[in-house]
Amino acid sequence: MPTGPYAEIPRVDAYEKVRGRAIYGTDNNPSGVAYGAFVTATIGRGRITAMDLSEAQSIDGVRLIVNHEHTSDLQPARFIMQHGFAFQSYSPVLTPNVAYRGQPVALVVADTLESAIEAASRIRVSYEEHPFAATLDSERAEPVPQAEAATAWPIDDIVVGDAETVYADAAVKVDATYTMPTQHQNPMELIGTVAAWDGDHLTVYEGTQNAGACKFGLAEQLGIPPENVTVISPYTGGGFGQKNTMQSQQVLTAFAARELGRPVKVVVPRRQTFHDSSFRPATRQRVRLAADSAGRFTAALYDVDAQTSMHDFFQSEHADTAARHYGYGAFRSFTRLVRTDTPTPGYMRAPFEHATAFAIESAVDELAYEHGMDPVQIRLLNDTDTDIVDGLPHSSRHVSECLRRGAELFGWDRRTPEPRSMVAQNGDLIGMGVAIGLYAGSGGPNRASVRATRDGIIEISLGVHEMGQGIRTAIANVVARHLNVAPESVTAILGDTRGVPQMLTAGSWGSASSIPAAEAVCEALREALDALGTNAPEGASPAEILALADHDELSVEAATFAPGQNRDALGEIDTGHVAPSGPVYPDFITYSYAAHFVEVRVEQTTRRIRVPRVVSVFDCGRVLSPRTARSQAIGGVVWGVGGALREAGEVDPRYGGVLNADMAEYLVPVNADIGSIEVGFIDEPDPMVNRSGVKGLGEVVLVGVAPAITNAIYHATGVRARHLPVRIEDLV
Ligand code: MOS
Repeated sequence: MPTGPYAEIPRVDAYEKVRGRAIYGTDNNPSGVAYGAFVTATIGRGRITAMDLSEAQSIDGVRLIVNHEHTSDLQPARFIMQHGFAFQSYSPVLTPNVAYRGQPVALVVADTLESAIEAASRIRVSYEEHPFAATLDSERAEPVPQAEAATAWPIDDIVVGDAETVYADAAVKVDATYTMPTQHQNPMELIGTVAAWDGDHLTVYEGTQNAGACKFGLAEQLGIPPENVTVISPYTGGGFGQKNTMQSQQVLTAFAARELGRPVKVVVPRRQTFHDSSFRPATRQRVRLAADSAGRFTAALYDVDAQTSMHDFFQSEHADTAARHYGYGAFRSFTRLVRTDTPTPGYMRAPFEHATAFAIESAVDELAYEHGMDPVQIRLLNDTDTDIVDGLPHSSRHVSECLRRGAELFGWDRRTPEPRSMVAQNGDLIGMGVAIGLYAGSGGPNRASVRATRDGIIEISLGVHEMGQGIRTAIANVVARHLNVAPESVTAILGDTRGVPQMLTAGSWGSASSIPAAEAVCEALREALDALGTNAPEGASPAEILALADHDELSVEAATFAPGQNRDALGEIDTGHVAPSGPVYPDFITYSYAAHFVEVRVEQTTRRIRVPRVVSVFDCGRVLSPRTARSQAIGGVVWGVGGALREAGEVDPRYGGVLNADMAEYLVPVNADIGSIEVGFIDEPDPMVNRSGVKGLGEVVLVGVAPAITNAIYHATGVRARHLPVRIEDLV
């Protein structure tokens, strides 16, 4: 079997996708399907006192209106971080309560979508209104006492050495506060469910990162055995964390289908998605960073206020990452959750790390200027190979290599250090900025099965979901190498509870949890083929060996788990209980790394900011599929540009909800905003994290892009942006 870097292969699902043959959840139209539309709350918080359905019921084709008066048999959802399955513990429509503006209060089901929407618009809801806090800065927003939050999850502050004293005595230091608004994820595929009952068996078609949670969560909420639920999600049109849990519409869609005795489809419109799904929480981060005369960091103090909802404590992991950016002498974090009347924030691609990197990497840049040091040099100087928090070794850490390689590809040596010192011929100010990013490596248990036939079919079933990141291509590449077959001959059954139990695909661990299982099951197949005793020549394919043995087919199974786990971990996937925080390794810590180099151009009259050029180098362990990895990295950098210069949920604190709840007004980069993005990979297998040497890529690609941009803006203009997104008015 060849080893070393994997060859680049085309996306194995490219043909299916461009021909429209890749079937996404709500593409399914079972015979007799009815359509649902939600009525949503128009108050910031309160209680429904009356609902007038008469006009809605008179609309042609309306079959069912579900509100809190009908749903008493349904169990509320449980929060995924509290051993449940859903993005939050609050279940709209199951009670007369309104916890936030825009939550669903009723579901109308009709023969056509048009009738459902029309009828939904004619339902008159009366409310008793309560005061509320719509934003992190609202007066009524509630900081959560440490002791109370600790009842839900460990919120221990990280304390290494006496950072306060070292900071107070330091010669060179910065003290700055960085703020970020809520940011909303908008996968191309909207959230949606098609639910169809056959007797007492429910089949759900859904675009999800977590078919297992959907299966077990629906069973729990509907009060039926899990074996009576099938979830089918072969393709997900972008997940980013939004789809790593159950959504509000799922149980209601299944309930409506059961009531009506016909399949029901509910697609949650974009505007409603902004109001009733997870989002990246708003943060306030204060960083105090000190260095000695050589530029070595001697102390870092990191204070985080992170938004959560009134009904859940959304775990903040900001400090865990902050502590691993550099080898600080002393470190102390203080994390505080702040409750708002919103849905529970959640796992939006690098949910904490994006914000953390903005704060830490900005502060490092500020300190570099304070010290008169080169921003790349100060980062190289402060790299570390031990973890100050747990004293464990890093499984692999090639961040200095990312910085060195990136600097060279980018041409960092052409940069003159002074702010405003580089001016283009057309008068634009040129800025060059750098930042690193990191994201914890993870992984977990997985079961795998494979079936090989004499006709050359290789059908593998794994607990992982394809959401556009390219996992099908990575699996085909790995299986092809291990079985000596062509990638096109590999069929993968993913995101489907009819196959092996499904592992949550989140935390950038899709590859790290499924690829080791794919390798293990290929090995088991090889052994089973050897046991046929055919004396087939070295390198024969399974089909050739089966033909020699006169066997039609062979099926084998395997299971793998992360270092420090044992077979018990398989119970997590067998019951759908996998939390997005991932396992803790006992003997090492592991992170993926990025180094981003950004050139900005700032037009002097209007202060218009352009990003003509980005060079990013990543250490994600072994690269399994070079083409889709590069594509994923480019997408992450584009999102980083959005995070730095465009994205913000705009909230009117008097009303709550999100004002710019559509793709016209929630600004994201468009093609014209993006210049050249050059991507490199270290491609060194990690020796500890799993047998495949693969860490994670999906999230680290965007971590650090924003501060690289704001650092470049400072270099161009001399203006330090401490709030995202940076807009023209911030540079005036
Ligand atoms: Mo991802 S933000 O962990 O689904």
